Amino acid sequence: MCGIIGIVSRKPVANRLVDALKRLEYRGYDSAGVATLDDGALSRRRAQGKLVALERLLAEKPLNGSIGIGHTRWATHGAATEENAHPHATHRVAVVHNGIIENFRELRAELEADGYRFESQTDTEAVAQLVTREIDRGASPREAVFRSLKRLDGAFALAFLFPGEENLLIGARRGSPLAVGDGEGEMFLGSDGIALSPFTESVRYLEDGDWVILSREGAEIFDENGAPAERAARRAVGRTFYVDKGNFRHFMQKEIYEQPDVISHTLSSFFDMANGRTRLPRGQEVDFSKINRMVLSACGTGYYAALTGRYYLERYARIPCDIDVASEFRYRESPLSGVDFALFVSQSGETADTLASLRHAKAEGLTTAAVVNVDESTIAREADIVWPTLAGPEIGVASTKAFTCQLTALAALSVAAGVQRGVLSRDDELTLAKALSEAPRLTNAVLKLDSLIERLAHDMATKRHALFLGRGFNYPLALEGALKLKEISYIHAEGYAAGELKHGPIALIDDTMPVVVIAPYDRVFEKTASNMQEVAARGGRIILVTDERGAASGVVKDAELIVLPDMPEILMPIVYALPLQLLAYHTAVHMGTDVDQPRNLAKSVTVE
Ligand code: F6R
Repeated sequence: MCGIIGIVSRKPVANRLVDALKRLEYRGYDSAGVATLDDGALSRRRAQGKLVALERLLAEKPLNGSIGIGHTRWATHGAATEENAHPHATHRVAVVHNGIIENFRELRAELEADGYRFESQTDTEAVAQLVTREIDRGASPREAVFRSLKRLDGAFALAFLFPGEENLLIGARRGSPLAVGDGEGEMFLGSDGIALSPFTESVRYLEDGDWVILSREGAEIFDENGAPAERAARRAVGRTFYVDKGNFRHFMQKEIYEQPDVISHTLSSFFDMANGRTRLPRGQEVDFSKINRMVLSACGTGYYAALTGRYYLERYARIPCDIDVASEFRYRESPLSGVDFALFVSQSGETADTLASLRHAKAEGLTTAAVVNVDESTIAREADIVWPTLAGPEIGVASTKAFTCQLTALAALSVAAGVQRGVLSRDDELTLAKALSEAPRLTNAVLKLDSLIERLAHDMATKRHALFLGRGFNYPLALEGALKLKEISYIHAEGYAAGELKHGPIALIDDTMPVVVIAPYDRVFEKTASNMQEVAARGGRIILVTDERGAASGVVKDAELIVLPDMPEILMPIVYALPLQLLAYHTAVHMGTDVDQPRNLAKSVTVE
């Protein structure tokens, strides 16, 4: 999604604006731009495509101002062209925006009727023209922004720059995140702590409805009614974090390889490994024995983690669970009677639908908890209980390490819940804790299969379609495996519960259709084996992800095998995720797609 940066300083800002935009690249974008004031006069540079295009433009036509704003745009209203790229500007104001102005059509019609001329198809330009009209009517920049904000419907983060005002930036947020960075003799605005990390250690996150006036001397924050507001400074998370691929070719590859480490970190906040006991993060404890029914919700990969979480919670803690994708949950008007607890899963903590679902659950009186990776995110701040995944910043748009950390947290939580509810004995707890503690070692072992999987990916890269099948714990993984493949290689892939094959998708099987089957030798292996026979009988090409015993069963003669070590069932979703990630990764590399920033996708989806 769009990224915002603003700097008010005494030193030239253009290079630093672009540097910050590079840190926001991971959010996904298709055009970029910056604007600065030079002797009070506004100049803009905007370019379609990646930041190199903007850098090239700035090399040809540099900007010298010491106050400026910058933006990476992920197109929503209007194509990814230079004219639609931000900043949008008039002779009075320049603005960058993340989010959607829902009533922009009505505003545009009103402003056009008043003689204001639009140059782009964006919703954002309505904001620039609205502020311009207020200034034309005699308002100061801050009054103009305050009045204009009241006219806007939707979710947004905004940063404004005013020609002639070399010591003034204004920011505002409703829905989309925005942070203020405190510098020495200079101040910053940014979409997140990662963007601000090279400039300052001290970051204040604006609350919903806040707006802020920045000068070189400091920031004045106001709430939506215009009353002064204090927001606590936090240490910027990204400070020690460099956007660096190390020795890896892509962030996604680096993040796949980080999994043994980050799973181990995540485990450490849920287990006292020395004693083999579960231990929820301090201050975030829950009495699971009081929960009658739980609802889970999330989007995309987070949803597949939550779906696995449902299997865990039902199996190990016997908590009845309902689950819905967040974009449905928030509007489905489901009667929540009998449900007393809502659990949300999100890497970014900013996904618009997940956030809206959390707010809906709160309004319905449910206790809310979030398994979330970005600990200063809106979801982390608004949930009653926060269970952090310690995956570290995830830059590749396709989620990998955040997913396995979410699974790890959900597995650990279900063991804690099972003990509290008397479903698991202390011995069971010890056994399961020991099993989970093996996740780092086993994920590491799976990474050694990289070159085998790369070879299989050569063939996958020649296909147009693929099917992924799994049962039980491995059904959500089939969905996740298919999502990974389609989002980065653009091969059409479907995930199915193996038992559903004969109810429709079997019609697709012929000798051009690869079928990836996730089937460790568990209690449902034989059932899935029958489904594999059905595929083989129709000429389908099977890639079987299994363990030693599954491979030894010789269930299908010509299957390609990816053989993982034997492991306890609770670990399977976590460890079996890795070969699927590697298969998608290598297929995309063979196909030459933009692995870290696949087309049309954004890392943090802050619009509906
Ligand atoms: C897929 C992917 C997305 C996200 C989804 C939710 O690889 O990354 O499907 O999982 O957009 O995002 P978060 O977890 O940030 O709420």
